[in-house]
Amino acid sequence: MVLNDPIHVHGQEWWRHAVTYQIYPRSFADGNGDGVGDVPGITSRLPYLRDLGVDAVWISPSYTSPQKDHGYDVADYFDIDPLFGTLGDADELLERAHELGLKVIVDLVPNHTSSDHAWFQAALAAGPGSPERARYLFRDSEDGPPNNWMSVFGGPAWTQVEDGQWYLHLFDSSQPDLDWRNPEVGDMFVDVLRFWLDRGADGFRVDVAHGLLKEESLRDQVVEHGKTASSDARDLADVPLVERTERDEPMWDQPEVHDVYRRWHEVLSKYDGDRMLVAEAWTQSPESMARYIREDEMSQAFNFAWLLAPWSASEFTEVITGTLAATEAVHGSPTWVLSNHDVDRHVSRYGGGATGLARAKAATLVMLALPGSAYLYQGEELGLEQVDVAPEFRQDPFWLRTGEPGRDGCRVPIPWSGDEPPFGFGPTAGQPWIPQPTEWAALTVAAQEGDPGSTLSFYRAALAARRTFATTSGDEIEMLDLGADVVAFRRDAVTVVLNCGAEPVDLPAGEVLMASGAVGATLPADTAVWLQ
Ligand code: NOJ
Repeated sequence: MVLNDPIHVHGQEWWRHAVTYQIYPRSFADGNGDGVGDVPGITSRLPYLRDLGVDAVWISPSYTSPQKDHGYDVADYFDIDPLFGTLGDADELLERAHELGLKVIVDLVPNHTSSDHAWFQAALAAGPGSPERARYLFRDSEDGPPNNWMSVFGGPAWTQVEDGQWYLHLFDSSQPDLDWRNPEVGDMFVDVLRFWLDRGADGFRVDVAHGLLKEESLRDQVVEHGKTASSDARDLADVPLVERTERDEPMWDQPEVHDVYRRWHEVLSKYDGDRMLVAEAWTQSPESMARYIREDEMSQAFNFAWLLAPWSASEFTEVITGTLAATEAVHGSPTWVLSNHDVDRHVSRYGGGATGLARAKAATLVMLALPGSAYLYQGEELGLEQVDVAPEFRQDPFWLRTGEPGRDGCRVPIPWSGDEPPFGFGPTAGQPWIPQPTEWAALTVAAQEGDPGSTLSFYRAALAARRTFATTSGDEIEMLDLGADVVAFRRDAVTVVLNCGAEPVDLPAGEVLMASGAVGATLPADTAVWLQ
């Protein structure tokens, strides 16, 4: 650990321009053949990610966990679940990644623990009024739940325990919310941060970063827009961008949450190597997102605006300009993301099939040209679509609580090679924990490698092209008006054009640096290009 690290130059930290690849451990690579991905599996595939051309990996949780929400229910923040391996395996992963020049971002889950966590078990045993209960949000209520809040996964956000008290869980009942007004909670998480920083973690993705503090009164939510009282991506997706700021959310985005990140900023600043924090904060506007990345708080926040927007040039343009204005106002760094483990894959969101894939590649190419950093989700480089998982294989708590399909369809194990499942996912024959579609034989890494027309080759080329200009082209862009169906901007010497309309559009003069499809004198529908 070095204070005042001489390599650190403010404004040039590695994460500002990084492309980070999200790994969902149970679905990336299975080292031991039990049908579930694991840490040694990830380590074995790191050279693939180096060759893909990403700078960093963010690994979804692999802590000790009963896996009720696939690791976002942590029972021990200081160990790895045996399903995924050991602490020694995690150390090896960190070491190998660093040898390959890859940074590693660990997923931190501070809003809630698992109900198996020693603290929650102690709280149950100790009873009402105890210091053990005071680490969570236990309340008395005679007639039903203490307020009208709904769980993001459906149903009331409160569960009653045997002695009559209720505890709050904004997610599954197996994920009790911690009381961040209790100093013991903050102190424990500083220990967690240091534990992983000391092992070499380069940063943390902070789960539910906007949720840690609730309005202290725990008052009822005023429900608007004819919606339920829950609030998450799925709800926001139905609300037009302009209306999103009108929601009453006493459970999210409270001013006091920022004190937590100021403290964490201090903790990280004592380490060398520009360690970073990226917020998963489903806030209502670019401005509220930007508050998480003020200079003394986090490094980045996921910018979900594009991922929530439909295929529309005007919406995309609004997302780009709104994001850049809001981040610039706080001297922050923008991020871009189109897919993750919580949303339908973007090929499918944009219509699926050939059209969906063309649009997904085009949107990705535009995202990669923008100032700031980009996040990719495992399998998008193969053009994978959302899978319609048969009900008997669904495991998402959202499905279990609501009966709606949920998120399993974007979590199907990655196809690496071969003609039949598990497509090289692991060493054992047969289907992994969620069955892979047999059509994925054509989409394996092995099938796409060496095919210049494949989605994988496109991603490799785009990431290589980005590398040559992303860090040197400055953070300014100039939006261009090339028609209502077109997103267009200039960044330094590169002009980026995306055609969201149905008809080809004329292109400005310039040499084609990268294109998401065939380009001639005009730019076809659903295609993007970088011109120099
Ligand atoms: C956000 C995570 O991305 C999601 O997968 C998880 O279910 C919730 N937070 C609860 O931790």
